[in-house]
Amino acid sequence: MLSILVLNGPNLNMLGKREPEVYGSQSLQDINQALLQMAESLDITLTFFQSNHEGALVDEIQAALSRHQGILINPGAYTHTSVAIRDALAAVALPTVEVHLSNIHQREAFRHHSYIAPIAVGQISGFGSDSYRLGLEGLVRHLRQSLKAGALRVDMLETDA
Ligand code: DQA
Repeated sequence: MLSILVLNGPNLNMLGKREPEVYGSQSLQDINQALLQMAESLDITLTFFQSNHEGALVDEIQAALSRHQGILINPGAYTHTSVAIRDALAAVALPTVEVHLSNIHQREAFRHHSYIAPIAVGQISGFGSDSYRLGLEGLVRHLRQSLKAGALRVDMLETDA
């Protein structure tokens, strides 16, 4: 069964309360719950992790190597600043999809650049909480295509992780 790590960066624990006119009224728990429902029908396993700390996100990405086949990430503000998160994702080389609730390209200029996008399979931005669902669907399709093509090794997974 495919296993995917769902990572959320700083301030996303405040979704629902945080600038609802920009990020909507759903909490991160609501979003994760909807993803879990999707996971059931897609027959995949999800693991959730949110942190406001760059190093904690780097640790989780490194640990993902032996546990998961793909990463769905909303890096929050670290999208625009973190070489460390990009390097961690490049180091583990797990297929990654970047998601944003808001359309970062429509907002302030400092949000237009993503350090993550060049090493991601793709980026989904601007669909509110649906960005996560669309991102998960895209990632699962990508992983299944890679599996079919023999380009993904599931036998390397630690079964007790
Ligand atoms: C965000 C966009 C970022 O620019 C911002 O710093 C966030 C949330 C989004 O989901 O729209 O924290 O990643």
